[in-house]
Amino acid sequence: MKNINIDVKNVLATVSMDNINSFEAKADDALRMLHDGTGAGNDFLGWVNLPSTTDDALVDDIIKTANDMRANCEVVVAIGIGGSYLGAKAVIEALSDSFAAYKQDNGTTVLFAGQNIGEDYLYELTSYLKNKKYGIVVISKSGTTTEPAIAFRMLKEQLEAQIGKTEAAKRIVAITDAKRGALRQLATEEGYKTYVIADNVGGRFSVLTPVGLLPIAVAGFDIRKLVEGARKMEKATAQGVEDNMAMLYAKTRNALYAAGKKIEILVNYNPKLHYFAEWWKQLYGESEGKDHKGIFPAAVDNSTDLHSMGQWIQDGERTIFETVISVINQRHKAVIPTDEANLDGLNYIASRRVDEVNKMAELGTRIAHVDGGVPNIHITVDSLCEECLGELIYFFEKACGISGYILGVNPFNQPGVEAYKKNMFALLAKPGYEKETEAIRSRLS
Ligand code: PA5
Repeated sequence: MKNINIDVKNVLATVSMDNINSFEAKADDALRMLHDGTGAGNDFLGWVNLPSTTDDALVDDIIKTANDMRANCEVVVAIGIGGSYLGAKAVIEALSDSFAAYKQDNGTTVLFAGQNIGEDYLYELTSYLKNKKYGIVVISKSGTTTEPAIAFRMLKEQLEAQIGKTEAAKRIVAITDAKRGALRQLATEEGYKTYVIADNVGGRFSVLTPVGLLPIAVAGFDIRKLVEGARKMEKATAQGVEDNMAMLYAKTRNALYAAGKKIEILVNYNPKLHYFAEWWKQLYGESEGKDHKGIFPAAVDNSTDLHSMGQWIQDGERTIFETVISVINQRHKAVIPTDEANLDGLNYIASRRVDEVNKMAELGTRIAHVDGGVPNIHITVDSLCEECLGELIYFFEKACGISGYILGVNPFNQPGVEAYKKNMFALLAKPGYEKETEAIRSRLS
């Protein structure tokens, strides 16, 4: 049984079911192209059957590596950016105790680096690691990305200084291309344990490969169940049938886009989902935003953001729609106490669970937004467990592939990401960029 469901009835004031179903043929074609590999970007479809083809022996090996790291390290730093960062960060945050960082009994802590070039961030991280037993999981498919390469150089050098080159090599795992890239060469020369990112799985679709699985396992979570959840959703979204929820989501958002709704806001009512939304933003933004087309993916964490973005969403320009993720069951129970004096006037909700109040905030907001002209797609997830997250991840990936093909773009490339890199290398006078350096400097003078 699936742990995820979708309901689109709250978009019907903006687009009818006929509007949505007018995308049926395109959605069918898209699904077929994903499965038979006849669409654009078909050399990046390894994720489609990834859950069902993931070798249990690989998962066992990742768990063994993770357990070794957990046994030897207080902290493991996962180094990567974009698709080599966000999936692991999203799942770990969703599954973790919100205050794990402040609790001493938490086993191995997974921290992240290489996802920015913040000097203070790296200084403070390296300072923190000075007295720590730490390991590194360095992740880069291309093996040449600047941000993680800088972080890795700094953390590796420090680790070698702390425990010596030989011991450091035992605490470093590299996840990269099978043959290409500087990281592969470095890992081979230094004798690191490595995992391969398959050629046909792009970064933002790679969370269910070692890219996501190893850091998630190091954080102590059950990656077998994560893969199991994804397998279920792979099966549930394989056929062009009416209850294929990935097709329904893809059709609905394309119908809304055609009706002028250019911005999709992924809404959660659980702070543990903040980074899940960041992962989702990359998945949809990098997949669909091309050829001057594509829904702009945004996100809010409610009810926090109802006190900042709530006004705009309720009353600003009517170019938005929302996709709300509701988590049905919470991990813990917390009840609002009764207070005899009732000075804060809260006794009307005394003895009720905090989640009941949160759910009413959610329902009240959904109704207000629909009344205010913000169509609302509703996705429910049973709980934030590994299996549920596996389902949710695969659901969004599958819907993204379908949606991108309906939109008429290649959802699996990211040519736009190169523009800033070219300018940055030119500005930094990277060897090989002499002409670009001259050109960009003349623009600045
Ligand atoms: O989705 C993508 O392909 C990108 O976001 C990449 O994951 C990101 O740029 C990092 O690339 P790499 O893993 O090659 O360092």
